[in-house]
Amino acid sequence: MCGIVGYVGNEEAAPILLHGLSKLEYRGYDSAGIAVRKKELDPQIVKAEGKLINLINKTNDGKLLIGNSGIGHTRWATHGVANEINAHPHASDDFNIIGVHNGIIENYKELKEKLLGHGYKFYSETDTEVLIKLIDYYCKKYKLGPIDAINKTMVRARGSYAVAIMCKNYPDQVWFAKKGSPLIVAKGENGCFLASDVPAILKYTNEVYYVNDLECGVITKNDVKFYDLNGDDITAKKELKIINWKTDAADKGRYPYFMAKEIDEQPQAVKETIDAYVKECSIDFESSGITNDYLKSLDVIYIYACGSAYHAGMVGQYLIENLTGINARIELASEFKYRNYRMRPNALAIFISQSGETKDTHEALLKCKSMGIKTLAICNVKGSTITRDADFNIYTYAGPEIAVATTKAYSCQLIIMYLLAIKIAYLKGTVDYETIKGYLASIRTIPDKIRAIIDKKEIVQHLATRFIVKHDVFFIGRGIDYTVCMEGSLKFKEITYIHSEAYAAGELKHGPISLIEEGVAVVAVATQPDLIEKSISNMTEVKARKGSVVAVTTENNDMENNSKHQIYVPNINYLFSPSLTIIPLQLLSYYTSIDKGINPDKPKNLAKSVTVE
Ligand code: F6R
Repeated sequence: MCGIVGYVGNEEAAPILLHGLSKLEYRGYDSAGIAVRKKELDPQIVKAEGKLINLINKTNDGKLLIGNSGIGHTRWATHGVANEINAHPHASDDFNIIGVHNGIIENYKELKEKLLGHGYKFYSETDTEVLIKLIDYYCKKYKLGPIDAINKTMVRARGSYAVAIMCKNYPDQVWFAKKGSPLIVAKGENGCFLASDVPAILKYTNEVYYVNDLECGVITKNDVKFYDLNGDDITAKKELKIINWKTDAADKGRYPYFMAKEIDEQPQAVKETIDAYVKECSIDFESSGITNDYLKSLDVIYIYACGSAYHAGMVGQYLIENLTGINARIELASEFKYRNYRMRPNALAIFISQSGETKDTHEALLKCKSMGIKTLAICNVKGSTITRDADFNIYTYAGPEIAVATTKAYSCQLIIMYLLAIKIAYLKGTVDYETIKGYLASIRTIPDKIRAIIDKKEIVQHLATRFIVKHDVFFIGRGIDYTVCMEGSLKFKEITYIHSEAYAAGELKHGPISLIEEGVAVVAVATQPDLIEKSISNMTEVKARKGSVVAVTTENNDMENNSKHQIYVPNINYLFSPSLTIIPLQLLSYYTSIDKGINPDKPKNLAKSVTVE
């Protein structure tokens, strides 16, 4: 996934652009470049393959490029290999248009043919060069200004993109446009900025505009302007949002990796999420716009999400069905587009997403809306695409999550799932008030209990030294424990590159047991009191096949005789146990990854959000 930054202001642009790009490194990239311009002079473009440090060295920390406006980019190769020629910025031959781009232009081949026919030459293999030259073509052919040329290009280019553009005849201005890929614009004391994500600008300002799809605009030293597809000025309609993240929130600080920091931040993030909605002995979702009467009237709940957010949704499904008596159906957002089931009208569709930018989840939301279903986003990023399109929003308070593998956002999503199920149960009268008070008291203990597990991380760290040699790791559990196994297994394979699978433990005997043999590790999560006997019999089955069992359970269970290794988490009502059992599994993935010499922040082939390249 690529990163975009842009700046116009009183300061030298290059160091600001390089700083911004460094804050977007977590998104993954394989080359980088910047273009900086001083007044009417031609811009200077510098690109470097590999890490950002190569670009920093090549420009002497940006000091070699003089000028107060510029654009920058970190590229993750999609069209063409990672090299300097394919790296952005790309420019028309006469430097009329210079630009950087995130996303994919689906019809770039057809557009390239057209431009070749008009005498354009291409040097790179990228779709970006086609996009930039198309803007140039429209500028020249129809004598259009940047807004009209960009708008005409937006109509012709299919796919998703965010672009930042410099135009020869418009010094000290950077133009932008968006369709499908995230883009923000920000105003600071010493200039204006644009970026593909908030951490890039947080050092300078926390006042941000979110660019909507099919909007374009321009930043100048003191101002920001927005235009719609007709070219009409829509600036007055745009809302300036204040980002409440602390300036150091996107820094690694004393931690070796963001993932270590984010695991450690979980007690605080979870506490802030609880405190945002739990008032004394009640749950208050008023800020979401959702009313008690509406929640009470619901017949069914649909949940859509991808990856870890889907696993949080599985917990939601489990609790809603157990506590409220209404049906909940969870579906992978990426599969929903291929399904054609009839949705009940009196339903709420929930969309869980850390970033609020995941394309499949967003598409699922639009599909539900088109069918007249009310939509609720559970999201960590205010103003993100999903939150803007949802009818209601409940936010998680995880702060910026930089590591690609989610930890603290997932933990906060779990809290919202618990609270939503309890709230509906209360409104529907399926659980009495005393029980609800007990649930809330139990949930309030979660932050301290997570801290207690993290404080004993050495136990898991030691275990990880045994996992680095494994080829296959299985995670098994039943009921709510199975949902944690799904998440534990995803995390494990994602950052250790070791094959792992999660199985509902009852399914072992239906096939997967044939894979259990000496050397295979099986992590068995078992917290549900009424299922402990069954879980123990699964562990015995694994032992009989010489697999080595790691039991993850609560302190009130003794698993010494049933497993080779034991990880105990504090006792808690099993309904909320995912918040605790997931912590050692995150730690196991993290330490195994470190021990294998892998950077856990940036798993290969993966990027933080799937909306862009
Ligand atoms: C796994 C992970 C991903 C995300 C998924 C959804 O560690 O981080 O599986 O959970 O890509 O992303 P969001 O929540 O941003 O929609």
